[in-house]
Amino acid sequence: MNNKAIGVFDSGLGGLTAVKEIMEIMPNESVVYFGDTGRVPYGSRSEETIIKYTKQDIAFLKQHDIKLVLAACGTASSVALPYIKECGIKTIGVVEPTVKKALSVTKNGRVGIIGTAGTIKSKSYENMLLEASKDVTVTAKACPLFVPLVENGYLNCEVTRLVASEYLEEIIKSECDTLILGCTHYPLLKDAINEITQGKIKLIDAGKAAADYVKEYLKENSAESNSQAEYSYYVSDEGADFVKIAEMFLSRKIDKINSIDIESVKVD
Ligand code: DGL
Repeated sequence: MNNKAIGVFDSGLGGLTAVKEIMEIMPNESVVYFGDTGRVPYGSRSEETIIKYTKQDIAFLKQHDIKLVLAACGTASSVALPYIKECGIKTIGVVEPTVKKALSVTKNGRVGIIGTAGTIKSKSYENMLLEASKDVTVTAKACPLFVPLVENGYLNCEVTRLVASEYLEEIIKSECDTLILGCTHYPLLKDAINEITQGKIKLIDAGKAAADYVKEYLKENSAESNSQAEYSYYVSDEGADFVKIAEMFLSRKIDKINSIDIESVKVD
């Protein structure tokens, strides 16, 4: 038993899609969430910058009473976590759980991956899939316009379907039966993607796969909580409509979001 909270971070508010999954499948687990809204997006930044930001995000969460960190951000998980081995707390990224899930789902061994430019360039998913199985064929595609479309509420509308059909052309041609949604924002595009792929491709939500993995990890380590869950939310900038956007990702009302200065957080 461990009633400490799960620390979750993301480059912004999209990581709340993973928190939503945690709330659903682990109703007793408390969550401390940090969204780096002042420095989002991470997806188009250099490796060096993403590593620096990720270290600070983890250091901030460690100031709270937490038992582990979930990096909900596909970009931070792909680009930074492989370089951050020693941060003094168990840290779980989205890549490994999602790869395991994709491999258990694919029937024809053809797996597609979509994510930010940083995630795709890192080949994090691709390398892990190919290491795990020799029989897998991977098609990866960066979809940089998806994040701003989601943040502006363009979920299943003409412009989004148009962009999606362009981005998914290669994925569809590759005849993959499984597609990894390797970015926090993409679960909100499931309907649009399903329309373009005519529902023929099984979509793997990285946040959901990671939440399932955390649940299993806590169970295996007898570290589940048996107390009433509490949720606290922190951001590094209160941008326009940030509460509305946060509630869209979380699919529930948020009473309070605290603002912090992430640049002043020291990394040890
Ligand atoms: N949270 C990021 C991810 O999952 C998307 C937004 C960004 O580029 O920072 O990769």
